[in-house]
Amino acid sequence: MAKVNDNYLKLPGSYLFSTIGKKVREYSEKNPDKKIIRLGIGDVTQPIAKSLIKTLHSAVDEMGAAKTFKGYAPDLGYEFLRTAIAENDYKKRGCDISADEIFVSDGAKCDCGNIQEIFSTDNVIAVCDPVYPVYVDSNVMAGRCGDYDEKKGTWSKVVYMPCTAENNFTPELPDKKADLIYLCFPNNPTGSVISKAKLQEFVDYAIKTGAVILYDAAYEAYISEEGIPHSIYECEGARECAIEFHSFSKNAGFTGLRLGYTVVPKALKAEGTPLHPLWARRHGTKYNGAPYIVQKAGEAVYSEEGQREIKEQIAYYMKNARYIYDGLKTCGYTVSGGVNSPYIWLKAPNNMTSWEFFDYLLENANVVGTPGSGFGPSGETYFRLTAFGSYENTVEAVDRIKSLGL
Ligand SMILES: Cc1ncc(COP(=O)(O)O)c(C=O)c1O
Repeated sequence: MAKVNDNYLKLPGSYLFSTIGKKVREYSEKNPDKKIIRLGIGDVTQPIAKSLIKTLHSAVDEMGAAKTFKGYAPDLGYEFLRTAIAENDYKKRGCDISADEIFVSDGAKCDCGNIQEIFSTDNVIAVCDPVYPVYVDSNVMAGRCGDYDEKKGTWSKVVYMPCTAENNFTPELPDKKADLIYLCFPNNPTGSVISKAKLQEFVDYAIKTGAVILYDAAYEAYISEEGIPHSIYECEGARECAIEFHSFSKNAGFTGLRLGYTVVPKALKAEGTPLHPLWARRHGTKYNGAPYIVQKAGEAVYSEEGQREIKEQIAYYMKNARYIYDGLKTCGYTVSGGVNSPYIWLKAPNNMTSWEFFDYLLENANVVGTPGSGFGPSGETYFRLTAFGSYENTVEAVDRIKSLGL
């Protein structure tokens, strides 16, 4: 008889965004005349930049001609894209990463979720609290997290690194032994960043203890201030202890096109075993590559025109972030994030819980955000708004929240 992987049965309730979707659906069914503004989910709204669309069209034409048709892509991704990534995202920043250490994929989510497969199930994971849920849930599925405490919202075998107002939403080193340390900066959900000195502390810790850092840089393009690391490989020794994930979703709006990459340096080992061949084996066995046309569009992101266009798009979203941040701050909210990140993290007013504030905003301002508690216990009483809406909707949403007079 077939048996299920009962680790899946340990996963609590429905996924955060399904619960939000259900609440919003129910509200709009009861109130069909209300215009609901969604600043909850982290999906982009601006169309793909013109030069990238042009590249996509010509790549489609190549697929229709016998001479230029492409079948399966090379395992690691096309050389033209990996070279552009190595050159622009690493060499220009002084990071020693070469094209053959880059694995192209269809996005950061699957890589962040799948990377744990190359590690033993005995490993202890450490995560920030609050956290992007994929890191924890993928480890629960693999049986690495122990039991869930519904009251506390924590897993018995996971080491939590609280990110609170006291530490500026940047974690301290794990207070218990951890083998795999997930970090994400600029952070989802808090919008916080990590200084190079602090990140270096994590790298030094990992080297000392033999831990591996899994560094998610999905929001790197939103860094606007000087001195904030764009890549963990800006830190000394990171080649020996870190894997890095990137996405084209937030910098170039590829959430629907799908493209990302993962860097596994050849110098990286766990217990003396190099990890690059393991990820190469996994990638080659379970994955057949991002589409050629999308990889061509990814290459075009690094062209002069592509860079100009995507910077304009990021500036558009960051104008929204500024509007949310300033608007809420001037009317007394405690706000953070939004400067190097498209996420604004605010404290729910009047001692409301995250979900109470969610319901209050939905019903009274018809604005949808994300309850902080959905990202972990330290997110309780916090709330996430995203800058990925249209400017007009963002302004209307903030003005509605302001007029609540909370
Ligand atoms: C922290 C973080 N990592 C990864 C992703 C997923 O990126 P992708 O669209 O490339 O799968 C997201 C998406 O919201 C994210 O917030």
